[in-house]
Amino acid sequence: MKMTKLTCLILFSLALTLPVRIAAAGDGKTIIEKNNCGTCHKMEGPAAKTFAEALSRKAPDLFYAGSKFQEEFLVEFSQKPYQIRPAGTLYLNHVKTVDGVDRIQDPPLCASRLSKEDAVLASKYLMTLKDPDMKIGVYKPGASFFKIGAKMIFTKSVACIGCHQVKKRGKIVGGTSGSSLYNAGSRLNGDWLSSYIRNPHYWDPMSPMPKWDLGEHAWMQLTNYIMEMKE
Ligand code: HEC
Ligand code: HEC
Repeated sequence: MKMTKLTCLILFSLALTLPVRIAAAGDGKTIIEKNNCGTCHKMEGPAAKTFAEALSRKAPDLFYAGSKFQEEFLVEFSQKPYQIRPAGTLYLNHVKTVDGVDRIQDPPLCASRLSKEDAVLASKYLMTLKDPDMKIGVYKPGASFFKIGAKMIFTKSVACIGCHQVKKRGKIVGGTSGSSLYNAGSRLNGDWLSSYIRNPHYWDPMSPMPKWDLGEHAWMQLTNYIMEMKE
């Protein structure tokens, strides 16, 4: 076959775009592997089942990231992480009693520093890691709920606030043993949140968070209340 200048040009441009296409097709998974996210995060289940395993956990599990998070949060966070758990992944490991007072020492920050391009691909991959058994459509955004009632549960009757930080008139208040919830509405998936607060040990058998039997109505109230917490 005799190649015209045009066919040459077409073949040449195809050859140039090919590697780019292969990289774009994928590989979020490769990016996660290359950046060693798995040295700290569990990328495959099951979650820790013994106290010893939970004590040695360096970072939160990511093997159900697609059920737990909102994609935009993952894209932002994996480029520029910030502290979500004021006392680290496990409170016990980062609190020392000095002169009778508990002090938090050096809670580790996430080591992820992906470029924007890599963060987008890695997050796309993380969003595929879903638990097929999670009930979908439980959280109904905008459903009417009684904010004062929900706040009563959160701050008084169950006192979630004793372990979780939230924003009150622009100031961060609350306990430090759990994760901060002040931006939970832009970080977490509402259905996951609803599932976790009902039964934390389904997701993490060693979660220090207690389980309560509050009833359908209260769970709906709490889910809506927390999903309204946005930065
Ligand atoms: C050296 C250990 C380490 C490595 C490596 C690491 N992380 Fe993290 N990561 C952490 C810790 C510790 C936290 C918890 C920080 C907090 O809650 O304040 C965290 C938190 C996260 C969270 C939020 C999880 C949640 O439940 O709130 C995401 C998402 C995340 N990391 C993604 C990544 C990705 C993607 C990579 C690889 C590009 C990565 N991390 C590499 C230690 C690590
Ligand atoms: C005794 C302390 C304690 C109390 C009380 C408590 N929690 Fe938790 N909670 C925790 C801990 C510890 C975690 C695990 C954080 C992690 O995954 O690293 C957690 C996790 C969560 C999470 C998942 C957050 C995430 O980022 O992974 C949500 C949502 C939550 N709690 C909501 C609540 C609500 C709502 C209440 C009240 C009904 C409550 N918590 C009461 C300690 C507590």
